[in-house]
Amino acid sequence: VLHASFASKAQKEGHDNQYHLQPQASFKVAVLGAAGGIGQSLALLIKMSPLVSDLHLYDIANVKGVAADLSHCNTPSKVKDFTGASELGNCLKDVDVVVIPAGVPRKPGMTRDDLFNINAGIVRDLVTAVADNCPGAFIHIISNPVNSTVPIAAEILKQKGVYDPKKLFGVTTLDVVRANTFVAQKKNLKLIDVDVPVVGGHAGITILPLLSKTRPLVSFSDEEIEQLTVRIQNAGTEVVEAKAGAGSATLSMAYAAARFVESSLRALDGDGDVYECSFVQSDLTDLPFFASRVKLGRNGVEALIPSDLQGLTKYEQKALEALKPELKASIEKGIAFAQKQA
Ligand code: NAI
Repeated sequence: VLHASFASKAQKEGHDNQYHLQPQASFKVAVLGAAGGIGQSLALLIKMSPLVSDLHLYDIANVKGVAADLSHCNTPSKVKDFTGASELGNCLKDVDVVVIPAGVPRKPGMTRDDLFNINAGIVRDLVTAVADNCPGAFIHIISNPVNSTVPIAAEILKQKGVYDPKKLFGVTTLDVVRANTFVAQKKNLKLIDVDVPVVGGHAGITILPLLSKTRPLVSFSDEEIEQLTVRIQNAGTEVVEAKAGAGSATLSMAYAAARFVESSLRALDGDGDVYECSFVQSDLTDLPFFASRVKLGRNGVEALIPSDLQGLTKYEQKALEALKPELKASIEKGIAFAQKQA
């Protein structure tokens, strides 16, 4: 079942194009931070993709065993391990998609911003290597605080002269996955049908689910909207508290990140119908970065989808205005960090 859900759309529809009868396993994907909680599960899910020919796993330690283990799965991709900074360049050579879940996760009582001091430097160093070795790759940033680490990555890529805003993504898919799950539960809908766009950023009140834009059309009471919005915004903390010091979301995150990787690969493969929410450079609001639905194509973001932000309810409009100062501050913090290093 999992395999089917990760199959390319072309494969599912039995496209008449010969090339698409069997999806070509032709893309190279690198995971940086691959021995971690997210990294291991994500690597497993990517190993199941029929579109991947090479899976490169990088970490500062413990990645050899993960790669040996995964390499026994009889799916097409070849798995290779890379340990430590001296092997990072080789890990990234000719890679199409780089996914970065490297860094420390939250413990109870911490906000995502509390991770800034450690993760900012990790993302800076990894993105510097991406710029040097595979500047044309799609870059998926998972490391928190995403609201700051994506602007850091953009600045580093600019300093290196290789910034392509269409190819830099903050992974917010988990917010959409959570919103879809919670809405389906609350309204007794078939999970597979539910799609809630989530915009803004990826921390606390900057996560704004646009429940009025839920597909299929659903009506919510004011109380349901308040409950669902708050639950979606705090869902990460729900997991952090349940894990009680052992980390934050890893399994649902890996699932969400694998969906975003698969969508990116389908777009690279020429599928003209790929949409995902992501935190990207944006002109939809007055903020330089903003999460919204985007259309993905061979060159990355083909279009931002402005329609979700039109005709918002009063509640959503108010929440959008309320999130802007916090999101702006997080973006500026990231930019200032990267500029100080230049
Ligand atoms: P983890 O601690 O289990 O794994 C992190 C891995 O990164 C470890 O294997 C570690 O060795 C590696 N690492 C550390 N420094 C590195 C470096 N310089 N280069 C390469 N690898 C390095 O943490 P987990 O749970 O996998 O979380 C990873 C990150 O993902 C955290 O920052 C967390 O906040 C974030 N996250 C993001 C979510 C999102 O929705 N975008 C959701 C959940 C977590």
